[in-house]
Amino acid sequence: MGPVIKENVSLVNYNTFRIDVSARWFVEINSEADLISVLQSDFIKTKQVLVLGGGSNMLFTKDYDGLVLKISIPGIAVLEPEGQGSSDEVVVRAGAGVSWKYLVDYCVSHGYGGIENLSLIPGTVGASPVQNIGAYGVELKDIFKCCTAVEIATGAKRTFGYDDCGFGYRESVFKSSLKGQYIITSVSYHLSRSAKLNVQYGAIQQELQRRGIEQPSIADVAKVVSEIRVSKLPDPATIGNAGSFFKNPVISVAEFERAQANFPEVVNFPAGPGKVKLAAGWLIEQCGFKGIVSGNTGTWKNQALVLVNHGGATGLEVYNFSEQIIEAVADKFGIALEREVNIL
Ligand code: EPU
Repeated sequence: MGPVIKENVSLVNYNTFRIDVSARWFVEINSEADLISVLQSDFIKTKQVLVLGGGSNMLFTKDYDGLVLKISIPGIAVLEPEGQGSSDEVVVRAGAGVSWKYLVDYCVSHGYGGIENLSLIPGTVGASPVQNIGAYGVELKDIFKCCTAVEIATGAKRTFGYDDCGFGYRESVFKSSLKGQYIITSVSYHLSRSAKLNVQYGAIQQELQRRGIEQPSIADVAKVVSEIRVSKLPDPATIGNAGSFFKNPVISVAEFERAQANFPEVVNFPAGPGKVKLAAGWLIEQCGFKGIVSGNTGTWKNQALVLVNHGGATGLEVYNFSEQIIEAVADKFGIALEREVNIL
């Protein structure tokens, strides 16, 4: 049976903020062929289209008056060891609808390394290149090989290699120049059985030390990262949220020095030549916003960068609260916070 287009579907179970809005039309896509048939149908010609993966980076402020394509394309395939080099290299391809957590668990349990620092990130494979997901010193771009996609306007297939994607901090062409033009159908990752582990991140080092692990395995790192995440971040299964709501601001060294003159404690990290990244969570906490409850929304008690839905929040309520945070940080530090979450 081909894809079934439903009408007036609640999206409450399709966004991790658990905002209760509805989609005028909704279709679940289980294969690339189904996707192409929907894109080439007459029905879609007059509709605006929204592509939804895990809905884990999205804040709905109103009902969606178009067609939601919920991408559920399954499948994980391990391709032949790559190239002539070390046979430890593995390429894993996953369907865009595969849960990211499932993919990471699959790879870690098979001993395929490189992906372990990205354990427990919510969302799907298809979204992973769009915002170049990252955590604990690793970004998607570090393991990305290529992805396949279908053009919304024509249904034509295209493969994107690394250089086609324009990856940056939480950025790619899929969010900028090609926004709204392609739907990713599968992603291939290059991993390695003898991957060099990335354990420089302070919290990982401390946790490994605490456990007395000197020679960590891929699985040890995955476990430690998962536990750090659980301790800091609210679980979307029990409390609605979309992870970091804002990006960490990247500013010039000159701007940084001005901020540091007034606030010597400002938490910062190097971000390439002439650039400094500030911890937005710290800026927000300094403005008195950590763990505060505002109506049905608020910031998380262990991580001020995460906005939450305490139950029954509307998207507008969360959005307005985020405006208050932006204003407070601008007033105190003269720094403009940018939202990481997509607002619709
Ligand atoms: N901090 C505070 N108060 C807070 C939160 C953070 O002072 O309430 C300071 C602390 O000094 C802390 C530093 O900020 O050491 C950094 O915090 P954390 O390690 O929690 O990381 P983050 O910069 O807030 C980023 C990503 C997360 C990712 C973590 C770990 C962004 C926007 N967020 O957060 O990604 O899990 O690093 O690598 O880059 C996401 O994108 O949704 C996400 C959760």
